[in-house]
Amino acid sequence: MEQIKVFLDESEMPRQWYNIQADLPTPLRPPLHPATGQPIKPEDLAPVFPMNLIEQEVSTERWIPIPEPVLEKYALWRPTPLYRARGLEKALGTPAKIYYKNEGVSPPGSHKPNTAVAQAYYNKVFGIKRLSTETGAGQWGSALSMACQMFGLQCRVFMVKVSYNQKPYRRSMMETWGAECIPSPSDRTQAGRKILAQNPDSPGSLGIAISEAIEDAVGDPEARYSLGSVLNHVLLHQTIIGLEAQKQLEKLGVYPDVVMGCAGGGSNFAGLCLPFVRDKIHGKNVTIVAAEPTSCPTLTKGPFRYDFGDTAMTTPLLAMHTLGHDFVPAPIHAGGLRYHGMAPIVSHLLEEKLIEARAFDQLETFTAGVQWARAEGFIPAPETNHAIAAVVQEALRAKEEGKEKVILFNWSGHGYVDMAAYDAFLSGKLTRYELPEEEIRRALASTEAFPKP
Ligand SMILES: Cc1ncc(COP(=O)(O)O)c(C=O)c1O
Repeated sequence: MEQIKVFLDESEMPRQWYNIQADLPTPLRPPLHPATGQPIKPEDLAPVFPMNLIEQEVSTERWIPIPEPVLEKYALWRPTPLYRARGLEKALGTPAKIYYKNEGVSPPGSHKPNTAVAQAYYNKVFGIKRLSTETGAGQWGSALSMACQMFGLQCRVFMVKVSYNQKPYRRSMMETWGAECIPSPSDRTQAGRKILAQNPDSPGSLGIAISEAIEDAVGDPEARYSLGSVLNHVLLHQTIIGLEAQKQLEKLGVYPDVVMGCAGGGSNFAGLCLPFVRDKIHGKNVTIVAAEPTSCPTLTKGPFRYDFGDTAMTTPLLAMHTLGHDFVPAPIHAGGLRYHGMAPIVSHLLEEKLIEARAFDQLETFTAGVQWARAEGFIPAPETNHAIAAVVQEALRAKEEGKEKVILFNWSGHGYVDMAAYDAFLSGKLTRYELPEEEIRRALASTEAFPKP
């Protein structure tokens, strides 16, 4: 029988996260204070995040030890298996070898608990009692709900309204893990009330939900805010995926030609690819590709600018690829990819040409997801389908060129709570959607006056 999976023993799980800031050829642009235009100081962030996470955010140490209590929780589902997608290879008739990290084996079903558990732990150690956050697809909200339960913290989640309605069972999962879940925009915050006054039918967006969660956290001295993507410390925690993958591929004696992942805020993509970016900086020949939706084409169409991470302009200004902080993406069925911005680290790597980006329409991504499910069994999350569409494209290219390429990608989550989206696709209700250029120009107008990176 041909080998399908490579496991690592728990004793082989990496004991440190990898910090790309130690190896970047040029440093990241600092986040700026919106009032002064000057780089923000750690104490400016203190009402929002605990100081131990702020220290990680700015650290340039290459290796950061994973605390023992975090490793103990990780061991519930980590190390995750590395699979060879032989079924898909056969279905495509490609000479490419396709490998994937299955991050869908965690209790909430995605990569998100890799940082949720770490963030809940650091907040607990700092004496915080409650975390407030936003969620798009519900994967992040459910991951943080579980992590807060594990460390005895309360959790409040503002869930983008369109996803709240599309995915009622994600809410049930959050409530099962003891959290409170509120559809956003809501009347609980000034930011939410302002949006509702302008547009009572607003489908919500991650930018709006972030504004609500920050406002909610900052108003309570015992609470802090937690973000599931974008920030340096979130990407840091996710690097355990790529570090495990490197050990697993080493056991097979294989090194990838192409590394791929879907990108919403950039955390699962970065989690897999940053250890490979390190190799690339040191001379390895590897192509690294982020896949995003044509309806929210942050990396492929958004310029590299300073912009706010949220709609109500409460965050520092971040140097990133952006579609504009007041951009509200179309309600496509990949809630986790509907974000106007992108992780500063991922944006910086694109600027440095260490990675590239490709955009896919939702019909193409669901077609790839269904093809995957029929060939490989597991049903992917709609976000993950973007990575699969990129893999299919790359594997077909390898077939055309007659090349035995090795492709590695991040299977970021399962789709068992997203079946309404599959239902819409299978019954022909999903449509193509490409963001019109006028809409990009309109949304970007709000960033014109900000400092340029
Ligand atoms: C399964 C899955 N994949 C990918 C993403 C996108 O987020 P990120 O770009 O931070 O990995 C999400 C976000 O909710 C998700 O749930």
